[in-house]
Amino acid sequence: MVQIAPSLLAADFSKLGTEVKKLTRAGADALHLDIMDGHFVPNLTFGPDVVRAVRSHSDIPFDVHLMVAYPDQFVEAFCQAGADWITFHVEADTNIAETISLIRKQRRRVGLSLRPGTNVSRLIPFLPMIDLVLVMSVEPGFGGQTFQKQALEKIAALKELIGKKSVRISVDGGINNVTAPACRLAGADILVAGTAILKQKNYAQAIERLRYD
Ligand code: DX5
Ligand code: ZN
Repeated sequence: MVQIAPSLLAADFSKLGTEVKKLTRAGADALHLDIMDGHFVPNLTFGPDVVRAVRSHSDIPFDVHLMVAYPDQFVEAFCQAGADWITFHVEADTNIAETISLIRKQRRRVGLSLRPGTNVSRLIPFLPMIDLVLVMSVEPGFGGQTFQKQALEKIAALKELIGKKSVRISVDGGINNVTAPACRLAGADILVAGTAILKQKNYAQAIERLRYD
């Protein structure tokens, strides 16, 4: 069954603790935390202190999505703040293999993400070293954008490349009741959704719809 990871980016930032509790009670499988540095993407969000503050409100896995130019500089801080998964970008200005080992040293799961314009072949050398691929179906930086359909082909291509390796495929951006079934069909294991869950009244119902509808 597909897993649903709500993105805190669409939450009411004035009550993050309550939002995280509500999402956990609503059946979220993991919490997706979007970290932006104003360089890798033209927007800013929050840092390790905020992750630490909300950590005590939930016991589901935290997937920290680093949209930052220098992920290696932040791995330790986010791990100490309570991240279970650290996902960073293959386009980041860093040595990918070394950053993967840095995350491994902290005994956390590793995810690699790619922008819509990046070819899946860039990930091939790293597939044996990671636990998750995060396919961006929008240009990273903002919530509420429209799903870019070429993500579906990427998911299918990745499925082939991954074969029997235990690497999960997650999709991030523009997930709603129309795009979720298409992603599930293409072979996604995890759907990240901000707007489609947090802008609804009933989080549990929104999560279930993305899972089954
Ligand atoms: C975009 C972020 C996404 C974003 C998704 O840069 O990585 O996680 O929160 O938001 P929606 O679901 O609204 O497209
Ligand atoms: Zn994200």
